[in-house]
Amino acid sequence: MSKKTALVTGGAGFVGSHIADYLKNEGWNVVVADNLSTGKESNISDDIDLELIDLTTGDINKLTKLIKPNSIFHTAAQVSVSKSTKLASFDAEQNIVVTIKILEALSTVGKGNESFLFISTGGAIYGNTKTIPANESLIPKPESPYAISKFSSENYIKYFRKNHKIKTSIVRPANIYGPRQDPNGEAGVIAIFINSMLNNKNINIFGDGENIRDYIYITDLVKGCILASELYLPYPINLGTEKGTSVLEIFNTLSKYCKYKLNPVFLDKRPGDIDKIILDINKAKNLLKWSPDIILEDGLKRTIDWFVKNN
Ligand SMILES: NC(=O)c1ccc[n+]([C@@H]2O[C@H](COP(=O)([O-])OP(=O)(O)OC[C@H]3O[C@@H](n4cnc5c(N)ncnc54)[C@H](O)[C@@H]3O)[C@@H](O)[C@H]2O)c1
Repeated sequence: MSKKTALVTGGAGFVGSHIADYLKNEGWNVVVADNLSTGKESNISDDIDLELIDLTTGDINKLTKLIKPNSIFHTAAQVSVSKSTKLASFDAEQNIVVTIKILEALSTVGKGNESFLFISTGGAIYGNTKTIPANESLIPKPESPYAISKFSSENYIKYFRKNHKIKTSIVRPANIYGPRQDPNGEAGVIAIFINSMLNNKNINIFGDGENIRDYIYITDLVKGCILASELYLPYPINLGTEKGTSVLEIFNTLSKYCKYKLNPVFLDKRPGDIDKIILDINKAKNLLKWSPDIILEDGLKRTIDWFVKNN
């Protein structure tokens, strides 16, 4: 049987590079499409090809015809909630328009049987919901342009699925963490904290540090994404751990593991940040037969080890 080909947009980034590696290990041909805006070439394994392309301006039809993917894993995005509040139109171009362009390419020059996985957000799409853990049947209440762009993309995906028969899947991940996460961006509190702690730099906490998040380790997330892409269910699936941890708890645990002695600097809460989110993962458990394996303490230790080796 001939090898299947996957196109991983954003495959030089944190999540995309792990998905690319997983598929490569499973015997796929893997091509990464990335503009290296936040991703790094060093995240891409030697046996994976890179198509250097800015998906907002590049020719996605040409790329689709060239690669002829069986599956597209669309992870490229502007990922910072904070940046989205300052640059909403930039966020919409990167996150909504690019998603539509890929779907248009699949529906016009695609073979007609490709699968398409979209990484939405479980951490931001439900807003400050009172229903904790948040399940997928809640009506999204996006509080930031980033969350709006993800919800909007989900709706476009539904449209293309219905009218162009694309085998789409949508996952809504909690906060993802692990090796290769960019510590220099505005998102990814665990990577930012570890990097600062290992370099003995000051750490800013926005708000009082009591805001609660659900943190999922990257290998668990990748497994959930692959399962979702194989089933292409018609509705979004949360991927999280059903456990909530405050930013201060993360700070304290990492301080202990990294032997960091400085106190955090508390700054004003940022617009768009929500107070508490924990995801209900019953759908993923029942339909994907998926549940997370890595508990937070282990995931944090693995992530620190990686940063120590790659600092
Ligand atoms: N990290 C998290 O906690 C988290 C949580 C939920 C959802 N997500 C989603 O997962 C996906 C991956 O996030 P990540 O944390 O790996 O971010 P990342 O910044 O590490 O990766 C994004 C990749 O996309 C590339 N990219 C961005 N704009 C591009 C463009 N116009 N053309 C080509 N390439 C472009 C970047 O260079 C980078 O390699 C995103 O869709 C994000 O919204 C992330």
